[in-house]
Amino acid sequence: MRSIEEDVLKVLITKEEIDERCAELAEQLHRDYQDENPIFLCILKGAMPFMAKMLDHLKFKMQIECIRVKSYDGMNSTGSVKIDDFNFDLIKDRHVILVEDIIDTGLTMKKTSDLFKEKGVKSLEILALLNKPVLNKVPLNPKYIGFEIPNEFVIGFGLDYDEQYRNLPYVGVLKPEVVKH
Ligand code: IMP
Repeated sequence: MRSIEEDVLKVLITKEEIDERCAELAEQLHRDYQDENPIFLCILKGAMPFMAKMLDHLKFKMQIECIRVKSYDGMNSTGSVKIDDFNFDLIKDRHVILVEDIIDTGLTMKKTSDLFKEKGVKSLEILALLNKPVLNKVPLNPKYIGFEIPNEFVIGFGLDYDEQYRNLPYVGVLKPEVVKH
């Protein structure tokens, strides 16, 4: 059987490093939200494994919701953001934490968080597994970040290349021959 791991050039962040960092982030979130009954809003599909890992660690009262936001095409940020149907009544006057896989230009999170603020949240913060600070184009100030990474296209732990590799247990970089040019 051929494994998708054969397509990986290098591992950037190991499963163990992700586990450890998620536990640290959870401690911070406990301090900030344990009496607030917040809503953790998972941005599908990329944030699913990160959200699941965080939920393993979070022991206070909370609500979970999901939203589908799309902005990437292959390896390119399209700059426009599409949000599928979502019942915004759910988040009125609530503390909301947007759970995202990666911030690249920041446009997706900026547009999504602006929209949620317009819809009347009580507070809104961003929890992202990864951030690529050199590519950030918009002011965002995400409060909870797992790892800052260099400007490389990464896959695994929810992140995809053309819908593949989300099921790798770590964050890595693909071999150049696997990428369509
Ligand atoms: P932004 O709007 O440019 O910040 O892009 C954010 C979205 O682009 C993320 O939610 C991902 O879906 C996707 N994305 C950005 N960088 C990467 C990457 O290195 N690998 C996989 N997806 C990425």
